[in-house]
Amino acid sequence: MENNSTVEHTDSIATDRRNIRNGHQSAVLWITGLSGSGKSTIAYELQERLFEIGCTVVVLDGDNIRSGLCKDLSFSDLDRSENMRRISEVSKIFYDVGVITIVAMISPFKNDRKKAKNLFGGKNFFEIYAKCSLTICEYRDVKGFYARARKGEVKNFTAVGSAYEEPENPDLVLDTECESIENVTKTVLHMLRVHNIFKGS
Ligand SMILES: Nc1ncnc2c1ncn2[C@@H]1O[C@H](COP(=O)(O)OP(=O)(O)OP(=O)(O)O)[C@@H](O)[C@H]1O
Ligand SMILES: [Mg+2]
Repeated sequence: MENNSTVEHTDSIATDRRNIRNGHQSAVLWITGLSGSGKSTIAYELQERLFEIGCTVVVLDGDNIRSGLCKDLSFSDLDRSENMRRISEVSKIFYDVGVITIVAMISPFKNDRKKAKNLFGGKNFFEIYAKCSLTICEYRDVKGFYARARKGEVKNFTAVGSAYEEPENPDLVLDTECESIENVTKTVLHMLRVHNIFKGS
């Protein structure tokens, strides 16, 4: 729906100024993957590591957001897209004020992930694929949802009753099936350093 009755106000504190004060750049780390692939585990581990070195960082975790901002949404394809749109817009607000934003969300659809990336013009937006086979995710079944989905108690569960479109060209692939949590976290931190998001060891 087009809105013809608003005129955006320009922020008088530009993102660059905020980045200089923070001592690091804004960034969005968008972690996608199956349920149980390790998105939340990595997101909070990364947040801890970045926080320790003085970065301003936030985690937007799919399930947490769904209990607040997006609690009116279902798991239909349409609502999943709306869920992504809202989280993308919230990430943009954080980005503009200088925060490193870590999104941990299944984000099953390619097109929605592309739209999220486009919102940032590709700059400092990293699509990170937490890659783990369905077999292992289902074996972990951290929340018990796979068992319930197989019994038909949970509808539209990703990779059981609803599609997961694997990223074709992500900025980073993490092997969360075989590698340790420590190793995959190090890999992300290395990527951020290479892109000058933050400096130091
Ligand atoms: N390399 C790894 N990276 C992340 N998690 C791992 C790794 N190896 C094992 N795990 C384990 O896998 C599980 C992943 O659960 P987690 O809740 O993080 O998944 P999730 O992707 O956030 O799922 P959901 O989409 O349901 O929220 C945890 O129990 C974690 O300890
Ligand atoms: Mg999670």
